[in-house]
Order: sequence, then structure tokens, then C-alpha cells
Amino acid sequence: MADPSKQITSAVVSVEPVATTTSAGASVAVDTVLRTNDVHVFYDGVPAIKNVSMDIQRNRITALIGPSGCGKSTLLRTFNRMNDLIPSASMTGEVLYHGQDLYDPSVDPVEVRKRIGMVFQKPNPFPKSIYDNVAFGPRVLCMKVDMDEVVERSLRHAVLWDEVKDRLKGSAVGMSGGQQQRLCIARALATNPDVLLMDEPCSALDPIATGRIEDLMVRLRDEYTIVVVTHNMQQATRVSDRTAFLTVEVDEHDQRTGVVVEYDDTAKIFSQPGDPRTEEYVTGRIG
Ligand SMILES: Nc1ncnc2c1ncn2[C@@H]1O[C@H](COP(=O)(O)OP(=O)(O)O)[C@@H](O)[C@H]1O
Ligand SMILES: [Mg+2]
Repeated sequence: MADPSKQITSAVVSVEPVATTTSAGASVAVDTVLRTNDVHVFYDGVPAIKNVSMDIQRNRITALIGPSGCGKSTLLRTFNRMNDLIPSASMTGEVLYHGQDLYDPSVDPVEVRKRIGMVFQKPNPFPKSIYDNVAFGPRVLCMKVDMDEVVERSLRHAVLWDEVKDRLKGSAVGMSGGQQQRLCIARALATNPDVLLMDEPCSALDPIATGRIEDLMVRLRDEYTIVVVTHNMQQATRVSDRTAFLTVEVDEHDQRTGVVVEYDDTAKIFSQPGDPRTEEYVTGRIG
């Protein structure tokens, strides 16, 4: 059923899941949360990624992998209009969220980022209390909520509650890196998103903190759809269901542009890739 809470503006209607038929004949709803149709992103008119058409499936973890500079972050930012904040960036093509054009002039980008949250590489808590960090989004968006309840629920979802429940008014700045990253995840969850975008969320963390974030991602998958950029291929195999491999194509004018080479189930990408460029990358011969 169409879920009214998924609609970004009343002007746009969300779509029903697409039904597909399995080999056993059973009908299975494959719910596409995000879809890109022939997306190109440019910086100062120069293409950074081109021809990206892919579906992001609900309650799955989708990993974006590929060498540095191939456009993983650029692609991730198209999913919640974060490229809008970069003056030199422009885009062609279409991004659909539950069937709705995210870039339609009637869509409010602030509302988009409320529903499609972002967590960055370097934990970036605000110099405020733990409580105020989590309450930040709902306050800015004037959400009519029981704030204590939202803060507790978000911190529980981020598996941070037990560590901080006695010092919610204490500063977020003194926390460990791993705690700060879980706080940033709690802050993103507080606006009640259904998608979390994560751009190398563990690359500033030690292995123990990384393991906790990976465990958390797997837990969150039941309720959220996650797209994660990672340069760590073990991480992609550990946590993701689907993997997109991007690389840089160089044309005859020496123009370097990111493309999605292959997008499939993670097990397939890492064991039986269909493209030699993917195989070269995942077997560690390049990148
Ligand atoms: N804000 C920006 N301004 C200009 N060029 C950018 C900007 N962000 C990224 N790029 C360029 O776009 C290409 C893809 O970058 P990026 O998406 O950051 O790749 P990745 O995340 O895979 O390392 C690179 O050539 C990079 O230099
Ligand atoms: Mg990046």
C-alpha cells in the first residue's frame, strides 16, 4: 500500500511496490526505494559521473565501491540532493524516491534530507550536548514530537543509549570516535528517515569501533534502507546485500568520468563478477 508518510509533498503520490514472480511462481514485492535514470553529475560543466541507472532496494544494504575519485560520493549525494549545496554541481537525468521525482521543483530539499539522512566519514557532532545533537533535526524542522522519546529511541536504535543515558546533558565532544559516529547516526535517525546514506562511515575509526558500526548497520537494515560508500572491500562483503562497482573511464580527450561498471548481489560481485574491470578491482589487482 502507498504509505502517506513516504510522500515528500502532498502534490506527489508514492508508488506501489513492483511485483515480480519467482521461479516457484510466488509473487514477491520488490520495493524500490530509490531509482536513478541516466544520471549525469557535472562540476563546472565537466562530467564526474555519467549514465547511472540503478535501483536501491528497500531494507537492503547497498555498497558503492571503486577507486578514489570514481564518483562514489557524488552518486551518494544525488540520493538526497546534497549536491545542491555545491554551487558548481549540476545534474541531468532523474532520481525517483518511492516513484517521486526528487528534483521536481515542488520538492523541498530540506524535507528530502529529513527522509534520506546522511552520515559522513568523519564523525561531526555539534559542540552541544548529546541530547541537543539528537534533538537538532526535529527542532530545526519544528517536528511536533515528544523530544525525550525521540532522543531515547534514536539513541537506542544507534546502540548508544546505555553508554550515554546518564550524561545526556554532557557534551558530545568528549566522546570516543566510535561513539561520536553512533551519535551522528542517532542524529540522522531522529528525523524519522527511511533511508540512510553513509559515506565511508568507518574510515576514521579503529577496528573495534568499525565492527560496532557494521553490526549496527546490519541491525538497522530491518527498518531502514542503507546505501554505504566504502573503500574497504571486506566491509562490503561483511555488511552489504548489493554492491555497485564504479570506476573511472578515460575517453579520447583524456576526460575522466565515473561509471557504474556492474551492480549485482554482493556475493556475485565478489565471486563471479561479470566484467573484467570488476574482477581486477575485487581481486585487488588495482585500486
Ligand atoms: N565539490 C567538487 N567540486 C569539483 N569537483 C569535485 C567535487 N567533488 C568531487 N569532485 C570531482 O568529481 C570526481 C568524483 O569525486 P568523488 O565523488 O568525491 O569520488 P569518490 O567519492 O569516489 O572518491 C573527482 O574527479 C573529483 O575531483
Ligand atoms: Mg568519496
